[in-house]
Amino acid sequence: MDRFVKNFIGASIVYLFLSTIFGILMLYNPELLRLKFVHSHLNMLGWVSMMIYGVGYHILPRFVGRRIKSVTLGEIQFYLANTGLIGMLFFYTLETYNPGDSLYRGLTVASGILEALSIVIFFYNMIATLYAKEGQ
Ligand code: HEM
Ligand code: HEM
Repeated sequence: MDRFVKNFIGASIVYLFLSTIFGILMLYNPELLRLKFVHSHLNMLGWVSMMIYGVGYHILPRFVGRRIKSVTLGEIQFYLANTGLIGMLFFYTLETYNPGDSLYRGLTVASGILEALSIVIFFYNMIATLYAKEGQ
């Protein structure tokens, strides 16, 4: 198993743990529901997407009998996805408690763009692997 694949799966489980704690805190203190986006994206971009990246990178190339197109791109995607997610949720939280702060909003959007870039890399790496010409 490639190191970045194992890292995606490990990170995914950490995000599940964090989002569960956050979910319980929201049940306990409804004031925290204003940060529902943090819980939902820890889950959807952290737990769910990163588990799918990890399992997908490991299994899908084997379905077509090939190696992944680029391990380096997989490594880069891992760092972009995590930096983007943590940054987006961190600055979103700061902006929620400092409404109208354009610096925090800008950093939230910039982190969201990093996250989106990681998704584009996954898209490219997976399509280039699955649809590579025979012999490549
Ligand atoms: C013990 C575990 C969990 C707890 C205590 C919990 C708790 C909550 C709470 C309190 C809300 C806010 C509901 C509201 O708006 O009134 C919520 C929303 C949400 N949760 Fe969880 N959650 C848990 C696990 C999960 C998991 C595993 C996922 C995804 C795989 C998930 C995905 C979501 C999503 C997407 C929303 C937003 C839904 C919406 O806006 O309607 N949650 N959760
Ligand atoms: C770069 C990636 C993403 C960005 C920037 C993003 C951004 C957003 C924003 C701004 C909202 C509205 C939040 C609100 O109403 O306060 C939202 C809601 C939601 N998104 Fe995403 N999203 C991304 C990826 C995803 C992915 C990959 C999934 C599912 C796998 C997902 C699932 C959801 C769900 C279920 C909601 C409704 C729950 C909520 O309001 O928190 N998102 N997203």
